[in-house]
Amino acid sequence: MVNVFSTRELPKAGTDLLKAEGITLTQWHEKRELTFDELVAYSKAADGIILSGRNKVDAAFLEACHHLKVISLFSAGYDNVDIAAATRWGIPVGHTPDVLSKATADTAFLLLLATARKAFYHHKRILAGQWGFFEPTAGLGIDIHGKTLGIFGLGSIGFEMAKLCKNAYGMDIIYHNRNTNEKAEIELGARKVSFEELLAQSDAVSVHANLSDAVKGIFDKEAFAKMKPGAIFINTARGPIHNEAHLTAALQDGTLWGAGLDVTTPEPMHKDNVLLSLPNVSVLPHIGSAVQETRDAMAVLAAQNVIAGIKGKHLPKCVNPEAYRP
Ligand code: 8YV
Repeated sequence: MVNVFSTRELPKAGTDLLKAEGITLTQWHEKRELTFDELVAYSKAADGIILSGRNKVDAAFLEACHHLKVISLFSAGYDNVDIAAATRWGIPVGHTPDVLSKATADTAFLLLLATARKAFYHHKRILAGQWGFFEPTAGLGIDIHGKTLGIFGLGSIGFEMAKLCKNAYGMDIIYHNRNTNEKAEIELGARKVSFEELLAQSDAVSVHANLSDAVKGIFDKEAFAKMKPGAIFINTARGPIHNEAHLTAALQDGTLWGAGLDVTTPEPMHKDNVLLSLPNVSVLPHIGSAVQETRDAMAVLAAQNVIAGIKGKHLPKCVNPEAYRP
């Protein structure tokens, strides 16, 4: 009998696939994160696991559960996994990139427009009974047509965001990335720039990088000070890429015009966080990939990854192909 443990209830599109393979799936149904000990206990009884949420797959977990044939992430991001340790144990780690690119880019686009037009603030004013006297100069947003969008991390999500902004608003696209993205350069006229140039030239910066030590906290007070006055900062990737205290200060003292965040530190954000009370800030509760079609596609890919891993085959989407032993 083959057993798979999932730390969340998965969309049926994924569980049906596992069932069709004769796999016995155990799902965690409680609405709280598993403790380390619970995760180890369930994983010990499984051949592979599907991981969603904030549980860490660190060296200690892998030491305890190195029997696992596969770790399949229900996410594109893999910053919660010690990939080097998984590779050392020969455990392939699957993830779900690409299928969520459009939905996540939509969320970044939504946050850009909502922030530029102070949409969340105006909504809150109506709820507070403050839709009152019309003033031609009050509560104004900024126009993003024809402005410059800076993409930090131009992978598949960054590409989709750049495409939306180019097509909808004729925005000029610049990007900072390790590799050159030829597709974006040819199709969108995107221009690769240094980090300093990205900060200095963008009217809006949108973050789409994977979280790694190299980018952790890279958007700090020095970076915000180098951005254009009146610029907007958008992050739909991972909260720790920006320093939240520095971002808050930059928004309060007017260094930045506004910010749109789908990711925060910690998550969930506390309801009393000062960012929620600032007029030019839009915060969403990490809903980047949260549409039915995308979550179904993620579940299918996560199931395909786990099935391949259990059969000892190459995963359709693998973070660490070097984990396969010859
Ligand atoms: C997920 C995400 O909703 O894919 C990612 O990296 O951040 C989101 O799509 C989240 O990670 C749940 O697993």
